[in-house]
Amino acid sequence: MLVDEQRQRLIESALVARRWAYAPYSGYPVGAALLTASGRIYEGVNVESAAYPTTMCAERVAVFNAVSQGEREFVALALVTANGGSPCGACRQVLAEFGLDTLVLVADVQGKVLQEISVGELLPLAFQPQDLVKE
Ligand code: THU
Repeated sequence: MLVDEQRQRLIESALVARRWAYAPYSGYPVGAALLTASGRIYEGVNVESAAYPTTMCAERVAVFNAVSQGEREFVALALVTANGGSPCGACRQVLAEFGLDTLVLVADVQGKVLQEISVGELLPLAFQPQDLVKE
């Protein structure tokens, strides 16, 4: 469960992180903040590239940042964009790798939460680690 104070802190972290987004091509900066079971927050921003497809989304940067620091248990991810856009499919898949119960808070730049939904709801019938049977 997420208490109000954690929720506010998480959204604020995503909002502050968004300032560092590198989005010269789309003009659509994105900030993400991921709360882990250890109580820490890991931020991420979108990082674009002149070779467009090599761009990386804010959510995945936050997840990779957390995993790189030894974290694998996620509680909630806040995502801040100008208009409260929802996570892309690739980011949903990466979040699903670490559990379907992670809560996703989608907010706009005013910090208004427009969507509050679990990863499992965002990605029904997700392909998960246990589906990867080896022959
Ligand atoms: N973007 C994200 O960072 N997260 C998403 O879930 C959707 C899209 C970024 C990628 C690109 O830099 C810009 O937003 C426009 O697609």
